[in-house]
Amino acid sequence: MRQHHRTPRLLGTLLIVAAAGLSAGTSAAPAAAARAASPLGRVVPAPVSADAGGTPYEITRGTRIRVDDSSAVRQVGEYLADVLRPSTGYGLPVTTNGTGGIRLRLGGGPFGDEGYRLDSGAQGVTITAGKPAGLFHGVQTLRQLLPAAVEKRTVQPGPWVVAGGTVKDAPRYAYRGAMLDVSRHFFTVAQVKRYIDELALYKINALHLHLSDDQGWRIAIDSWPRLAAYGGSTEVGGGKGGFYTKAQYEEIVRYAASRYLEVVPEIDMPGHTNAALASYAALNCNGVAPPLYTGTNVGFSSLCVPKPVTYAFVDDVIRELAALTPGRYLHIGGDEAHSTSHDDYVTFMDRVQPIVAKYGKTVIGWHQLTGAHPAKGALAQYWGLDSTSAAEKDQVARAARNGTGLILSPADRVYLDMKYTDATPLGQKWAGLVEVRRSYDWNPGTYLPGAPASAVAGVEAPLWSETIVKDADIDYMTFPRLPGAAELGWSPTATHDWNTYRVRLAAQGPRWEALGIGYYRSPQVPWPAR
Ligand code: ACM
Repeated sequence: MRQHHRTPRLLGTLLIVAAAGLSAGTSAAPAAAARAASPLGRVVPAPVSADAGGTPYEITRGTRIRVDDSSAVRQVGEYLADVLRPSTGYGLPVTTNGTGGIRLRLGGGPFGDEGYRLDSGAQGVTITAGKPAGLFHGVQTLRQLLPAAVEKRTVQPGPWVVAGGTVKDAPRYAYRGAMLDVSRHFFTVAQVKRYIDELALYKINALHLHLSDDQGWRIAIDSWPRLAAYGGSTEVGGGKGGFYTKAQYEEIVRYAASRYLEVVPEIDMPGHTNAALASYAALNCNGVAPPLYTGTNVGFSSLCVPKPVTYAFVDDVIRELAALTPGRYLHIGGDEAHSTSHDDYVTFMDRVQPIVAKYGKTVIGWHQLTGAHPAKGALAQYWGLDSTSAAEKDQVARAARNGTGLILSPADRVYLDMKYTDATPLGQKWAGLVEVRRSYDWNPGTYLPGAPASAVAGVEAPLWSETIVKDADIDYMTFPRLPGAAELGWSPTATHDWNTYRVRLAAQGPRWEALGIGYYRSPQVPWPAR
């Protein structure tokens, strides 16, 4: 596995602290329960270590948010102030002067790209990190150490006390993603920003946007204008659809970056392309454009692999999209190409991956990419089930042994569009019913037999939108499962324990209520009474 997909761990001693407090199994339960009784022990995703003790700090009218003299650190300070000001009613100036208060500082230490340390005591709370991303994640932890009412947008009574102690933290995996399918139903820039804010709460750092599919093409491409103008003009059920102008897409990218998420754009090819085929007759092998499609079938469309124009099209699309995307990755789909012959599929993928490289990006593909020849450095996103055939899993594991990195999105674990139970009004169940425990209770490091743990780049929770129309739908399917996927991506394996997780998860419910996030009140989780 290439080193840049891994974040260096904190010192081993910290892991030992975590293991002693929270190792899975009943023998550790009293320690874990004691930990969960303190706000420091209730954070989701679980930090590497959290040691309560000492005097608490109270945020008061006189508290300042003290930052380094750096625009990135100041921006994290302003973000924190925006969270805290409405509910506390305090001014909370962001300043480089003074002592005490809430201090955000960059410093040396074993932090890696995203780790941080939070120290809380009588004089204040100090978050220290090697990079601004670590400060931002530390700020998410600080939010969870305050009462849930801090998340409300009107003045609340307080008091705003942060328990004394120290949190030391860094992620298990460098890639912790969530996908939003904006093709089956289109979501506006404001809706995507809202989702980004929800993902940031749980230290997710990649937003995968599924920008094209049979039902809609959602990104303006200047050299092929009908893709968005016509191919984006509808959605599942026949609504009006929509697309992002380049400026709007860039606005999403900038907003995501302000929350330390990288946007991973996906153009799904060679299947899932009806919207493109409908927009340009020339892209079809028979030269005839099919009608737009507003149903929910899959596997019926394919780009025309033998035609040269197909590669001119792909080159233009990838060039324009890469130019808009500062992130490292470009996702080329590659799933469910049931209308493409195997030979054509291999030909297509082998020809398209170098185009991604030509424009400076790294390929991500759904795991069927491993049936072709994954490019050096490519990541394969596994979306199979426990019941997926051994042959298919072997193909992916073999690629992983040969250097292809893995993003794990097992559909019967972390597909957020799967119904929780038969009674769930939204979603699908082709991968099975996925209750909260099932979603949380697996180990990405050992999930795929024969794949080395070192090949795992991370975890991603996709939300497909065949049945998802509005913000409330997004929220209901995302919460409470997304925090579990986020914890699998962030927290050390030593903290993994359903019985203590469900208690920590329960404590998030009042936060979601304060934030206006509706969620599924799973009977598996001991939610506080409303
Ligand atoms: C997929 O769910 N077709 C990746």
